[in-house]
Amino acid sequence: MVEPVFRSSKEQREQWIKESYFNLFNLKSEQVIIDLLTDSGTGAMSDRQWSAMMRGDESYAGASSYYNLKNAVTDITGFTHVLPAHQGRAAENVLFSALVKEGDIVPGNSHFDTTKGHIEFRKAKPVDCTVDIAKDLTAWHPFKGNVDTAKLEEVLKTNPCEKISCIIVTITNNTAGGQPVSMANLRETGRLAQNYGVKFFLDSARFAENAWFIKTREEGYADKSIREIVREMFSYTDGMTMSSKKDAIVNMGGFTAYRDEELYKKASAYNIIYEGFITYGGMSGRDMNALAQGLYEGTEEEYLRSRTGQVAYLGTKMKEYGIPVLEPFGGHAIFIDAKRFLPQIPDEEFPGQALAVELYIEGGIRSSEIGALMADRDPVTRENRHSGVELDRLAVPRRVYTDRHMDYVAAVAGNVFERRVTIQKGFRIKKEAPFLRHFSIELERV
Ligand code: F0G
Repeated sequence: MVEPVFRSSKEQREQWIKESYFNLFNLKSEQVIIDLLTDSGTGAMSDRQWSAMMRGDESYAGASSYYNLKNAVTDITGFTHVLPAHQGRAAENVLFSALVKEGDIVPGNSHFDTTKGHIEFRKAKPVDCTVDIAKDLTAWHPFKGNVDTAKLEEVLKTNPCEKISCIIVTITNNTAGGQPVSMANLRETGRLAQNYGVKFFLDSARFAENAWFIKTREEGYADKSIREIVREMFSYTDGMTMSSKKDAIVNMGGFTAYRDEELYKKASAYNIIYEGFITYGGMSGRDMNALAQGLYEGTEEEYLRSRTGQVAYLGTKMKEYGIPVLEPFGGHAIFIDAKRFLPQIPDEEFPGQALAVELYIEGGIRSSEIGALMADRDPVTRENRHSGVELDRLAVPRRVYTDRHMDYVAAVAGNVFERRVTIQKGFRIKKEAPFLRHFSIELERV
């Protein structure tokens, strides 16, 4: 699939971003030159996926497309119980409806914003047990997405197991910079979960990229295939939520999968209420076929080499311009350290967002803030949650852009970096929603 790239002038972009209340989600796609807002649902499907779509079975119940999907999930992950859902957060809704109740605790590693949203919406508490080194944006550690198992054990020890809905580990750890979780860490987390009688799930949106990093960085895995690594990763867990819009390279879709039949049955009831019957759950037959095929393509070694290679190419170019980026480079995105890029802008003025707006004005690049705007307010104190880390994420869609586009992105960021001292002010909030505010927030210049 080939799509045009729209050109625009700086003056036009200044006008458009102002009309969008400095929220990049409000821009129309034609107003964007290179769209790195997300790698979610923005990948290009293959010839094999498009042809699989032609054979979609649209039966309400028992469609062959559902069995294609189920068999692919079982083949790749080992889980035999599979419930389709229309996307990742819908999968979270199904799983958490079955598991999370008011007052519960859900430990994990930097829960993604929708995951956190679903937990807090149920008046339960996500507890972040990510390793401390994840906060050090320049330290080289091969698995900065890891769970700090000592922190996790403390949570498990100090709370009754019936209060802990489940442990949820995000692979790769998106919020902490697309950083992977090691096999040793998954194994140890699985062991703790078992010891304390708590269920363990993977938020698996980028499981294949995580497997690639295990293969290339963890001792003992260089000679294992990606599929073998993926199987082992899931073997330590009770199930998964999946946003298929990432590593399964489809534009829409998701699922949950379970080891335990009883939990699957419980979740099935919620799947039917929220998503649709258990053999389609919000997806068309043709889409389930494309997803089944995408799961195989997303776990091909050559694809993963090229995919993570392109992201690293962008990171390397950025470094050549002197731009402070999070290292090691993430699997799906390059994260610019906005606090080192714009040290003159205080946290209260949202430096991550200030940088995202500048990249847009300079070269029509749409990226996303991963900082205090996204972190939202504390549900109890209603204070802004400033973690001290302000990032601007440039997420690379799969199989869409060429390295020439990446050259352009790096050059645009280089231009902004050169004139960084001229950017003196950030933003203040004009209007915001009570949760997941960053999607619709309205901002004004300080
Ligand atoms: N989990 C992770 C780790 C994610 O990154 C996302 C989405 C979801 C769950 C929710 O999935 O969008 O299909 O409902 N991440 C996108 C992003 C939106 O830009 O990182 P969804």
